Amino acid sequence: MPLEQLKRFRKVVKLKDGTLVVLRPLGEGDGQRLVDMFASIPETDRRLLKHDVTDATLIASWANHIRFEVVFPLVAQIDDEIVADATLHKNPGTSLRHVAEVRVAIGARARGRGLGRIMLEELVALADKVDIEQLRAEVPVGSAVAQRAFEKVGFKQEAVFKDYFKTADDQYHDVAVMFLVLRDRWEEF
Ligand SMILES: CC(C)(COP(=O)(O)OP(=O)(O)OC[C@H]1O[C@@H](n2cnc3c(N)ncnc32)[C@H](O)[C@@H]1OP(=O)(O)O)[C@@H](O)C(=O)NCCC(=O)NCCS
Repeated sequence: MPLEQLKRFRKVVKLKDGTLVVLRPLGEGDGQRLVDMFASIPETDRRLLKHDVTDATLIASWANHIRFEVVFPLVAQIDDEIVADATLHKNPGTSLRHVAEVRVAIGARARGRGLGRIMLEELVALADKVDIEQLRAEVPVGSAVAQRAFEKVGFKQEAVFKDYFKTADDQYHDVAVMFLVLRDRWEEF
């Protein structure tokens, strides 16, 4: 799928409670909406995210420097509010160009209504269309809901990396590395 087509991606999905949500790529004008969404994530989850998402300048910079060929950011919108962000992190031009990492964060307003699963399903489908062969996710051990959401779309835990995350408070956390193989090489024969 060409990049231009990815940029125009739009989809309306229905949550378990019937709420309609628009899925679309992050855009340049979304900085503050993204800052607000990350601010709504409970501190227990927020501290385990890779970046300091309370840093408004950092978050706004994600919206201002979008490079779809490296990171594809899919957001979910209800009314005028961004309620979730799921990203596909690619490695173009490297020996990992067939592997991408998936990250997902659902804001407080939209939790537990099936949006995490829907966004993961959409990113998996999009990854397949841009010739990604394997997807990887890094989920802190103990984040049972997150692990379950990834499992529901087919990811399997392949390893646990001990003390892999070190949070701002200098605490270490074990991380489950999960994979989803989209295209098995053997299928080519
Ligand atoms: C993990 C996360 C994405 C889940 O989002 P969500 O929209 O609330 O999840 P969903 O409603 O789609 O639920 C997905 C599955 O998790 C399980 N689940 C959801 N909420 C649950 C709860 N409160 N308790 C137990 N299981 C739960 C269900 O099995 C559900 O699947 P089902 O609806 O088919 O039964 C969200 O909690 C989040 O953003 N966490 C912080 C960021 C994070 O940890 N990201 C993962 C690492 S990148």
